[in-house]
Amino acid sequence: MTERTPLISGNWKMHHNHFEAIQVTQKLHYRLGEHDYSKVGVSIHPPFTDIRSVQTVIGADRMKILLGAQNCHAEEKGAFTGEVSAPMLAKLEVSLVIVGHSERRQLFGETDEVVNAKVKAVLAAGMTPILCCGETLEEREAGEAETKVATQVRAGLDGVAADAVASMVIAYEPIWAIGTGRTATSEDAQAMCATVRSVVGETAGAAAADGVRIQYGGSVKPGNIAELMGQADIDGALVGGASLDPDDFASICSYQD
Ligand code: 13P
Repeated sequence: MTERTPLISGNWKMHHNHFEAIQVTQKLHYRLGEHDYSKVGVSIHPPFTDIRSVQTVIGADRMKILLGAQNCHAEEKGAFTGEVSAPMLAKLEVSLVIVGHSERRQLFGETDEVVNAKVKAVLAAGMTPILCCGETLEEREAGEAETKVATQVRAGLDGVAADAVASMVIAYEPIWAIGTGRTATSEDAQAMCATVRSVVGETAGAAAADGVRIQYGGSVKPGNIAELMGQADIDGALVGGASLDPDDFASICSYQD
């Protein structure tokens, strides 16, 4: 089995202007050291308006923090007022792009087809997609969590080459656990991440299933990260609220200490 390097990603959502973003990035940098980066990858995903500023501070101080984005458009360019393309992000040294977050799906009407097109656009621009999936509370209570997530993963990966799938990140984020303080139990999170891995195996083969990194997201905090990361199929975390505070996010990233 491949040794998958854990990846902890901070999704800032619509928080922190570019001045705040610079400060948070610098504070995070001071709190993390070689010791941490030798064990874990760390990415931050600021709003678009912060990305150029954060890129500059990361570059100036040769920080090992990876720069990410929260979304992009599937087309390279064109008459899409208000949108940002994958090649534009790649030019800013963005290396990871969150695609199909449940907030994009629920609030902005992103379908599985749109999400799939974005996955392909991110890969085509040489970046890594973090493909999000997850069920609602109603779906979980109706016993449909696995089916929902399997459908999202199959659709998201449709037509993506197996070696590209192996390089990707998939984030399992149960919608009922996002921003609610209610975390999935580590057993439930593990079971769902194992489902995601087996769906990847069915669609892209064993090597892709072995290589793909699967994150858990939903009320991840300094106090619950170690137990979640102790699960066999959980290779990282996608952190919302707790990533806004550099102290909290740094302690999540150094969960192995
Ligand atoms: P919270 O960590 O605030 O629950 O958010 C999770 C999330 O949606 C990350 O993408």
